[in-house]
Amino acid sequence: MIPATNQRPSATILFIFGGSGDLNLRKLTPALYNLYLDKYLSDRFAVVGLGRSPYTDESFRERLLEGVQSFSRRKNGPENLWESFAPSVSYLQMDAGDSAAYTKLSDFVAAKEGEWGISANVVFYLAVAPQLVPGIATNLGKLPLCGDKGRVRIVVEKPFGRDLKTAQELNALLGGLFAEEQIYRIDHYLGKETVQNILALRFANSLFEPIWNRRYVEYVQITAAETVGLEGRGGYYEGSGALRDMIQNHLLQMLCMVATEAPISFEANEVRNKKVDVLNAIRRIKPEEVKDVAVRGQYGPGKAKDGKPVPGYREEEGVKPDSATETFAAVKLFVDNWRWEDVPFYLRTGKSLPEKATIITIQFKPAPYYAFPDEATHTWQSNRLTIGIQPAMDIRLRFQAKRPGQTLAIDPVDMVFSYKDAYDGQEPEAYETLLLDVMTGDATLFMRADQVEAAWKVVTPILDAWENETPDFPNYTPGSWGPDAAMQLVEKDGFQWMGK
Ligand code: BG6
Repeated sequence: MIPATNQRPSATILFIFGGSGDLNLRKLTPALYNLYLDKYLSDRFAVVGLGRSPYTDESFRERLLEGVQSFSRRKNGPENLWESFAPSVSYLQMDAGDSAAYTKLSDFVAAKEGEWGISANVVFYLAVAPQLVPGIATNLGKLPLCGDKGRVRIVVEKPFGRDLKTAQELNALLGGLFAEEQIYRIDHYLGKETVQNILALRFANSLFEPIWNRRYVEYVQITAAETVGLEGRGGYYEGSGALRDMIQNHLLQMLCMVATEAPISFEANEVRNKKVDVLNAIRRIKPEEVKDVAVRGQYGPGKAKDGKPVPGYREEEGVKPDSATETFAAVKLFVDNWRWEDVPFYLRTGKSLPEKATIITIQFKPAPYYAFPDEATHTWQSNRLTIGIQPAMDIRLRFQAKRPGQTLAIDPVDMVFSYKDAYDGQEPEAYETLLLDVMTGDATLFMRADQVEAAWKVVTPILDAWENETPDFPNYTPGSWGPDAAMQLVEKDGFQWMGK
């Protein structure tokens, strides 16, 4: 998290493997440029794109500028400042599989440090396909430079393994090469302003904490809905699916923010210890229970709102015609501890749904007794706190109010805090926050090895059960809220999904 003192990172050299790839173009360079515009970068800052494509520094900078112009939150930002930012960017052509080439990186660091006259933090960002991570990490681990725990860090993107076993293997490999405090495993949801704000809402106010437990909360829902389909990512998604792609990481991390006990400080390991406690407390699902608590779906062909045909998942490029990969998943979990025992946590996510919306709902129990006459209360709804993560960034507290007039009628109304109305200017993008944190050495918002493994343990029984049964796919149409079974998952408990 950006320190309250606006502390800027010290001299930093950032190497990006996959320099000419999509992630750098769409997210990393726009984030770095915004950090530069907001004066968060050190005056001694260098970023080096690494890749096999033959760029010169000049042509690489031009390509990145296109990325900034298309994808930055400041698309039309002060371009003249690009001219002053661009000299910090360079390109080094190298094949990441060639072990001998890695000395180029140490040479670059030595030359820069010589030029600056001080030693720098060095960050290696692996913005590459997961199968390349072990090889690159192994080669980096051989550089004497990487033994310097205090100033060298490695950033690893998700997916972090594709199940518990592969995640453990990757952790063991990285742990053999780097100290845990050097490893920054990214879950970009944790960099979102609204996700970070959950801790502020809960622990900077005395109002909510006394009711934030099983005595008052009836259930919690977390929905992360997307309107998009595959967006050309068939190759990756076919081996993943919604449970691995979203629930194992982003949704479980949001659940942790909602369910965690209060940390005693914001020291990285303290916050992460508390979150691991939540993951460890999630009730293990028995194989025979999976069908009752987990629902999967896959979209078939359909029509977009404008009437244009939308291909089904199985017709997308890189997808098998009989694919069993789920594009929708919903699960019901319980957190077995004093605070949350028997409060259901419903999580759902999917592609090709009607809205792009990530929302957390804390549904409170009904008032214990209504003294009001029956006719005054038929519109009554229990209190509810809704946290809009994106695109709407707001917090809504629903309560009952007397409708003005001579008759006694009571209606639900909302008390709303909206970022848009409360603050001027744009909030930073998740990657801005996360990159700055890596540069300042703050790992609070990153996944520790045990956190990743604990999250895999939660979803493993579901993955295993699904692997052993052929699903009846496709089972939802694009633009709907997923398969009927997802509705039944909450309806059989007497509830409904918020939204639709
Ligand atoms: C990524 C997933 O981690 O998160 C994607 O791999 C998904 O499939 C994306 O679309 C959603 O992120 P956001 O920030 O757009 O909600």
